[in-house]
Amino acid sequence: MKVLVVGSGGREHAICWKLKQSPKVDELFCAPGNAGIAQIAQCVDVKATDVDGMVKWAKENAMDFVVVAPDDPLALGMVDALEAAGIPAFGPHKNAAVIEASKAFSKELMKKYHIPTAKYETFTDLDKALAYIEEQGAPIVVKADGLALGKGVVVAAAVDEAKTAAREMMADKKFGTSGSTVVIEECMTGPEVTVLAFADGEHVRTMPASQDHKRAYDGNQGPNTGGMGAISPPPQYTPEIAQRCMEEIFLPTIRALKEEGRPFHGVIYFGLMLTPDGPKVVEYNARFGDPECQAVLSLLDGDLMDIFLACREGNLDKLDIRWRDQAACCLVLASGGYPLDYKKGYPIFGLEEAGKNAVVFHAGTAEKDGQTVTNGGRVLGVTALGNTLEQAIDNAYAAAKPIFFQDMHFRKDIGHAF
Ligand SMILES: Nc1ncnc2c1ncn2[C@@H]1O[C@H](COP(=O)(O)OP(=O)(O)O)[C@@H](O)[C@H]1O
Ligand SMILES: [Mg+2]
Repeated sequence: MKVLVVGSGGREHAICWKLKQSPKVDELFCAPGNAGIAQIAQCVDVKATDVDGMVKWAKENAMDFVVVAPDDPLALGMVDALEAAGIPAFGPHKNAAVIEASKAFSKELMKKYHIPTAKYETFTDLDKALAYIEEQGAPIVVKADGLALGKGVVVAAAVDEAKTAAREMMADKKFGTSGSTVVIEECMTGPEVTVLAFADGEHVRTMPASQDHKRAYDGNQGPNTGGMGAISPPPQYTPEIAQRCMEEIFLPTIRALKEEGRPFHGVIYFGLMLTPDGPKVVEYNARFGDPECQAVLSLLDGDLMDIFLACREGNLDKLDIRWRDQAACCLVLASGGYPLDYKKGYPIFGLEEAGKNAVVFHAGTAEKDGQTVTNGGRVLGVTALGNTLEQAIDNAYAAAKPIFFQDMHFRKDIGHAF
């Protein structure tokens, strides 16, 4: 098969790396890709959000299957558009991807189907939102409804902070139309874990749980990033909790979406908080998380293409999906200054050496005059396995040692921050 993966980050590199191992995949393409992806797939110069351009390219080049990995093209309906053009695609349709694209929608779904989540109200009127914040008191959480590059959520310790956040979203349009509607919700406490699952509209098959590290600095300090590292599986997610989540959250969500006429085919991301009252949903995403994907797919012992096909065809329940009985750690090496201002174009050294002991997924990299250079905030994700979580973490840090680029920044406490 000729397969195209849409996207350009570490997540897409991990997907390409796994698909490359499939005997079903004869030719692999990635749009737009990066310098690491270019070593295993042919990179195509079409932007991930260019729905018409992607359909046109996929058609002209006779793709047999397209994997849409990032949130924006899913929310824009790229899967629908590809299928309308006769090209099978992996990922939820637009009407199911809305569980990520609209927090108000997903909260309402959870309320209607009694899926545990934080108590909330939705507002389109600023004065009413401010009055509600006043009435509820702090701590309280204010969320822009739409996609906001992971910056649309404020966990406010004080009432004034929450009100400022609501004003910035609703009146000042800090996130454009994404903030016209806001969700204001109860502040939960407890460790956060991610559970990614394959879904075929009807059945759901979970992957090993994982845990991201969103803040830029050690001890969970500093600004939010796209993710500075991930481990899998996190020790807090016990088999008892997993069982409970399956019964109270995962199955009810997939059934609810089917019931609503929005069957979910693809990877569904359950962002969970293990609260004193039991596991609750923080949010849904409609795709693999990055960098959770890099850690979790490293543990997959089988053919990812078979799973993608089953998700489309609806026979996921018949598939034997195996996972290595090991742990994984993905350590992100970022540009100094990320997620704020940072420079690009620095040469990266030590990649070959590091690659002997880990898989080095590229995120923001480019090729310049025969040299791999930095080209984004998150640059690399050094991913290693171990027989214990501790070993996986040690292996990732040890493997990353030879890598160097100017102003390189990484967290020293991946796997130890919670
Ligand atoms: N109700 C809540 N109580 C406590 N913390 C929350 C709550 N909702 C979100 N958060 C925190 O804010 C982060 C971002 O919120 P989330 O809903 O995942 O939005 P996004 O990932 O789209 O920015 C979460 O990972 C969590 O740490
Ligand atoms: Mg989140």
